[in-house]
Amino acid sequence: MAKLTVEDLPLEGKKVLMRVDFNVPIKDGVVGDDNRIVAALPTIKYVIDHGGRAILFSHLGRIKKEEDKPGLSLRPVAERLSNLLNKPVTFVPVTEGKQLEDAIDNMKNGDVLLVQNTRYEDVKDGEYVKRESGNDPELGKYWASLGDVFVNDAFGTAHRKHASNVGIATNMPGKAAAGYLMEKEIKFLGDAVDNPERPFVAILGGAKVSDKIGVIDNLLDKADKIIIGGGMAYTFYAAKGIKVGNSLVEKDKIDVAKQILDKAGDKLVLPIDNVVADKFNNDADTKVVEGDIDDGWMALDVGPKSVEEFKNVLKDAKTVVWNGPMGVFEMPNFAKGTLEIGKFLGTLTDATTIVGGGDSTAAVKELGVADKLTHISTGGGASLTYLEGNELPGIAAISDK
Ligand code: 3PG
Repeated sequence: MAKLTVEDLPLEGKKVLMRVDFNVPIKDGVVGDDNRIVAALPTIKYVIDHGGRAILFSHLGRIKKEEDKPGLSLRPVAERLSNLLNKPVTFVPVTEGKQLEDAIDNMKNGDVLLVQNTRYEDVKDGEYVKRESGNDPELGKYWASLGDVFVNDAFGTAHRKHASNVGIATNMPGKAAAGYLMEKEIKFLGDAVDNPERPFVAILGGAKVSDKIGVIDNLLDKADKIIIGGGMAYTFYAAKGIKVGNSLVEKDKIDVAKQILDKAGDKLVLPIDNVVADKFNNDADTKVVEGDIDDGWMALDVGPKSVEEFKNVLKDAKTVVWNGPMGVFEMPNFAKGTLEIGKFLGTLTDATTIVGGGDSTAAVKELGVADKLTHISTGGGASLTYLEGNELPGIAAISDK
C-alpha cells in the first residue's frame, strides 16, 4: 500500500490517536450490531500489544442541537469495547479540555481510552457550528496535539472530511497511518474495481437510481455485467417504455436512465419478472408478472425468472461487488430475490464476493448468508464513494509511505 500503515509507526510508549468508526446502532443504552467495533479490534490490539496507549475517537449519529447529545453518548460503546477486549476502557465524556488531557496523561502503555462522540463539537453553546463535521482547523490541530502518532481505521467515515480524520492527519505529517481495517477495505474494494479478476459482475439494487448513478457510470467502464434490481430497476423500466404501475419511479431520472441504457448496451441486466403487490405491506395480495406492471400494482421484489437469469450471469464470475437489496427484504414476502442472490453468491467459492455496505450488509446479515461471502464492507456511504471512483478525503489525508 502506498500509504503508511500501523506497522510503520513507532508505538511503544506512544500516545496513539486512533480514528475508528463506532457509529453503531444503540437502543436504550445498549449497542445493537457491534460489527464495526469488532472490525476495529485487530488494529486496537496491535497498538496496545506493542506498548501503545490507544486514544480512540469516533462520531456517533448526527448532532444538530444540544438535546441530541445525551442520546448520542459513546459510553455504551466503551462498555461493549471493554467486554470485547476483555480489559478496562476509560471513557472520557468530553471532547476537549483538562478532563481529557489529564485522562490521557494518566494512561500507561497498553491502556485504552475512548473520547466522547466527536460530533459533540458540532454544537457549541446551542449553536450548530459543525466544528467536527466541517473540519474546523483549530479542532484538528488541538486533537493532533494530544498524541504522538495517528492511526486512521475508520473506513466507514473516509468519505467525510472531519476534524477527527482529515484534520488530525493533516496536522501529523509523516505520522498518520492506516489501520488494518482501512487497509483491508481498500484492498478488497480497490482490487475489485481497479484490478478485478474477470468476469467482474456488479449487482446494484436499492430504492433509488439517484443514489447509484455515479456508481453505475464508473462501473460501466470496469465491470463485465451490471445486474440491476430493487426499486431502482423500475426507473429503468420507465426509460424503456415498460409499464410500471404503482412501482417506485424517479421521474426526473428517467432521462439519465435512458442515457445509461444507451451507453450500457447488453452490459446492464434488468429483471425479467417481478413480484408485484397491491399495497406496500407484507400481507398485500401478490402475483408474479413478466414485463408490464398494471396500474394498482407495485413491484416489491424481483421474480423467479429474474433470479435464474441473475444466477446465470453470476455463475462464472470471478469478482462480484454487491450494493443494494433486490427487493423490500425487510418484509419477509419480498425478501426472496435478495436471499436467493445472497445464497447463490455464497456458493461461488472460486469468486471474490464483496458486499458494499449499507442496506446490502444489513440484508445479508439478516438473511444469514454473510459468513459465506469474502468481504462485507463496514462502509455504506464510503464504499459507494469508492465504487463511484471518487477520492475519499479520509484516505487521501493519510501520510504516504
Ligand atoms: C456511516 O454510517 O455511513 C458512517 O459512519 C458515516 O456516518 P454519517 O453518514 O453520519 O456521516
